[in-house]
Amino acid sequence: MTDTIASLSAYDDASLDQAFRGLTDEVRGAAAQLSTAETQENFRLDWLGRKQGRLKLLSESWLKTAPPEAKKSLGMRFNALKNEIEAALAVEPAGTKSTGPSIDLSLPGIRRNIGLEHPLTRTMREMTAVFAALGYSVGVGPEVESDFYNFEALNFPPNHPARDTQDTLVVADQDTKPLRERLLMRTHTSPVQIRSMIESAPPLRIVIPGKVHRNDESDATHSPIFHQVEGLCVDTNITFSDLKGTLDYAMKAFFGSSVKTRFFPSFFPFTEPSADVQISCPFCGQKGCRKCKYSGWIELLGCGMVDPAVFAAVDARRIENGLEPAYDTKKISGFAFGMGVERIAMMKYGVGDIGQFYSGDLRFLSQFV
Ligand code: PHE
Repeated sequence: MTDTIASLSAYDDASLDQAFRGLTDEVRGAAAQLSTAETQENFRLDWLGRKQGRLKLLSESWLKTAPPEAKKSLGMRFNALKNEIEAALAVEPAGTKSTGPSIDLSLPGIRRNIGLEHPLTRTMREMTAVFAALGYSVGVGPEVESDFYNFEALNFPPNHPARDTQDTLVVADQDTKPLRERLLMRTHTSPVQIRSMIESAPPLRIVIPGKVHRNDESDATHSPIFHQVEGLCVDTNITFSDLKGTLDYAMKAFFGSSVKTRFFPSFFPFTEPSADVQISCPFCGQKGCRKCKYSGWIELLGCGMVDPAVFAAVDARRIENGLEPAYDTKKISGFAFGMGVERIAMMKYGVGDIGQFYSGDLRFLSQFV
């Protein structure tokens, strides 16, 4: 519209009301005619257009010439007029379907998916929680370890063949350092057990979840990077029966109370005696299924009584660090255990390929609700 704008002559409330009443009547009259999206849009441009909209032109011209004390009451009336225009625009024009600026509250909204725990994180947390409930504290440590913590203190002497079973990536250009100080990617979370014992005297009960690295070829059940939950208990009078009782309890807590455990002799450099633990198949109740390879039993973890050579290495380092030796095998003993998280999660959730855990594929991950 191109009407010239009449100027205001008086600024008392009555005069202003009169001037605005005319405008309000115009707005209402036009609003009553808004039957299509097009007329609505024209109405919007006419009144609210950013450059030539009447509201803009009116307020510029009237506010500019108004005496300062009248600006507030003018401004309030402009706001009221603007509200009137916007209210008219919010009404959906008859004969159109949700094209106007109004919203249809019955339409479904935008769904934002809630994130969920990764199945490996969840398995680690649940396993850790079983031991936490038994009074174990949770320990963590570095993934880049020194040879001392990962191997030497755990009774893997230099060149011992047991090192081959835990081949790993080593940090380059360290040949000038003594072997024990050379850095490598940890092959198990056992170095955290050593660190904890060097730091604290017994009694000690810790459970250690974490990521580990080995020179293993990737296949359906192996990955060069995987996760473990290990544990350590050191106190006076800790015996193999404590180890058996604790692990039996933990497996029942995790897999269900009908699960049985059995122990077989095994070898780890840092435990003596050592054992592999099998649980009765929680999936088929020992009738035989694919998960237990029709044997009724599943091998799940390694364990054993802490080797005196480990305690000796710990005490030697405590003395080097200015601490009292605290791991005298005449006074204390302990057990340790370790298990692979992927293996347990694969079994529990029926995952056939370990690579799926690392794929980041939402079709896989969103199944773990
Ligand atoms: N650290 C062992 C491994 O990674 C597991 C283990 C821990 C075995 C503690 C016995 C006792 O293979």
